[in-house]
Amino acid sequence: MLPYFEYADDIKMKNYKITLLKGDGIGPEIVDEAVKVLNKTADKFGFSVEYDEALMGGCAIDAAGEPLPQETIDKCKASDSVLLGAVGGPKWDNLPGDKRPEAGLLGIRGALGLFANLRPSVIFEPLQGDSPIKDEIIGGQLDILIVRELTGGIYFGKRGRTTAEDGSPAAWDTEMYSVPEIERIARVAFEMAMKRDKRVTSVDKANVLESSRLWRETVIKVSKDYPEVELNHLYVDNCAMQLVRNPRQFDVIVTSNIFGDILSDEASMIAGSIGMLASASLAEGKFGLYEPIHGSAPDIAGQGISNPLATILSVAMMLRYSLDQGEAADAIENAVNETLKKYRTPDIYAEGMTKVSTSEMGDRVCEFL
Ligand code: IPM
Ligand code: MG
Repeated sequence: MLPYFEYADDIKMKNYKITLLKGDGIGPEIVDEAVKVLNKTADKFGFSVEYDEALMGGCAIDAAGEPLPQETIDKCKASDSVLLGAVGGPKWDNLPGDKRPEAGLLGIRGALGLFANLRPSVIFEPLQGDSPIKDEIIGGQLDILIVRELTGGIYFGKRGRTTAEDGSPAAWDTEMYSVPEIERIARVAFEMAMKRDKRVTSVDKANVLESSRLWRETVIKVSKDYPEVELNHLYVDNCAMQLVRNPRQFDVIVTSNIFGDILSDEASMIAGSIGMLASASLAEGKFGLYEPIHGSAPDIAGQGISNPLATILSVAMMLRYSLDQGEAADAIENAVNETLKKYRTPDIYAEGMTKVSTSEMGDRVCEFL
């Protein structure tokens, strides 16, 4: 290629703005490793990344008196995407509900309109055999994508305290979904399925809940736009059972906020180790927040033994869904797979492997990139 064109390419090099919410516990140490890997990936694939940090969760409560300062929301909105470590810890456990670190997480989901939560449950080939499910059931293979509605339903519905008819203290929460809310999450699920095995399971409790009956009707309507995708419906209790009975029957699962919360924890355990699973929370358009699905693990923070791979894999999801760098995303996932053949943090250690620290794990992934 002529030097002139090389120069033209250079000045057009893509630059992305990422806000880092390192959070609490192991959050900062795992985000640092993910940044290391993202920088290496940027070098390799010819783009650049600019970082800004903001506070959310316990660290924000300590520094600013609230779990989600407005400044944090503003910084996130001004960026291309957000990388989150983890929030919470025993230090803040006794605060009232709306002052807890978790309130920051729910707040940011709402404030950024992150209605679609993608939670893949996959087993990396070197970790086959780590699932608590028998080999003949899991077959060493698992590739489920849970699409969880994230800004509606009972998490965001009206709630309160009241007095029951017999005079005793009582409390209530409400599950409500509008048709547009169901339509847009269903669309995400069908779009994802089109790029996968073209099967969607919609999970509800339509035998009991009116909101679930509307959910089911609406998902069926949306499915008409995706004739190639096979749609089936399961009640949530049955789905919980099927996930352990025959997890390989699933491709994409789409469900409400609360059912998705519960089923995604179950699906993560089936995959073997919670330290490996990434997630994306997407808004309309390309914007998203990416985070490992595990928590802040305050008991092991600062010891250099946490597993940064779920956060590193969250960066891969970010590259794929928000930054249009699909090849870079594949490269990170391949590098993680290669790394796992030799190197393990203590949580996934197996005999014959080399035990590495949090930061060595980041270094090894960079080497395989
Ligand atoms: C999750 C978590 C959160 C949720 C908590 C921490 C509020 O369990 O992301 O699944 O329930 O959504
Ligand atoms: Mg959860």
